[in-house]
Amino acid sequence: MKKINLNKLLERARLAREMAYAPYSKYFVGAAVLSASGKIYTGCNVENASYGLTVCAERNAIFKAVSEGEREFSAMAVVTANGGSPCGACRQVIFEFMNPDAPVALADAQIEHISYSTVGALLPNGFTPRKLRQGQRMNRDRK
Ligand code: THU
Repeated sequence: MKKINLNKLLERARLAREMAYAPYSKYFVGAAVLSASGKIYTGCNVENASYGLTVCAERNAIFKAVSEGEREFSAMAVVTANGGSPCGACRQVIFEFMNPDAPVALADAQIEHISYSTVGALLPNGFTPRKLRQGQRMNRDRK
């Protein structure tokens, strides 16, 4: 298996952060994911005057990649001002497309302080497509 270069992924996340549209929160976020096919996809947070419509950098990166035909990712990097970690909603979206043991690197804007985690550590016992299908089968005949 090819070795994952988290430094390269962090650098791409740092560059993506420069595109962040966050005039309301002023919390600028960049994310990068490495697909199973070896390509890097990036995303930034995009806010809206109607605050609730904001989409996080992590989900934007994943949704961009899935829109291009990707379904599986082997690593993620996120860059913020202070090394903040993904929100709960993003953790669930990450969980859908990444293995629990996949690495997640979190860094500050200078990529000086890096913390390493995994998808499973960020979301223990996350909801899975498998659990969904199992529950659906159990209620197939219910109206
Ligand atoms: N944000 C992200 O992009 N990713 C996270 O994991 C945390 C929060 C964004 C959403 C919003 O634009 C700003 O950061 C403040 O919450």
